[in-house]
Amino acid sequence: MAHLNLGVFISGRGTNLQSIIDACEAGKIDASVAVVISDQAEAYGLERARKHNISPIHVPVGKNNTPKYDEADRRQLEILREYQVDLVCLAGYMRRVGRAVLEGYAEAILNIHPALLPSFPGTHGQGDAADYGVKVSGCTVHLAWPKFDTGPIIIQAAVPVLEDDDGDSLADRILRQEHKIYPQAIQWFAEGRLQIEGRCVTVKDARPPTIAEAIISPGLEI
Ligand code: GAR
Repeated sequence: MAHLNLGVFISGRGTNLQSIIDACEAGKIDASVAVVISDQAEAYGLERARKHNISPIHVPVGKNNTPKYDEADRRQLEILREYQVDLVCLAGYMRRVGRAVLEGYAEAILNIHPALLPSFPGTHGQGDAADYGVKVSGCTVHLAWPKFDTGPIIIQAAVPVLEDDDGDSLADRILRQEHKIYPQAIQWFAEGRLQIEGRCVTVKDARPPTIAEAIISPGLEI
């Protein structure tokens, strides 16, 4: 596939957006960010876009299934078309994507989630995992389907949960992996290497997992 135009949706500080911009600018991925759309006017991610001469656009979104929500959905699709976006990347976008965008970009919307889906979907993946007491958590990049956090999984990274972790410390450890796996998933998409069958994704000619064996947490002593 040729060079990809990305449309990135954010709601907040935009560190994943930054990792995508950096990977594009470093030539690690065959893409560039054409537009950043935020539902929050004050999102720092909009400032990051400005610093890289990327159009930052605030689209206020109403509650689900209200006229304002549907209007925002249509406006987002218009913007994506205007910027000739090939792939939509949800990067800390804390809203449901509307029907117009989902249908306009079927199988061309990626999302990053800070837990090992299907565990701990929703907006507090890291805190929910820490509170549940799991010993391993991580992050997931998947294709967005209409039902939140359910689409086919492209790549996951697992990290240990440590004894004294709370949601914040676990979130930091997970975030470092998010910044690695999201640009990688985009590059596989750009290269046309994702083969999707039902809910299973195969990466054509994928390398073996980066950690060859298991993460066991806490560590083994015998
Ligand atoms: C990231 O941890 C991302 O995985 C999460 O929000 C954070 C955004 O951080 N997304 C979700 O929880 C979606 N359900 P960022 O703005 O620094 O990229």
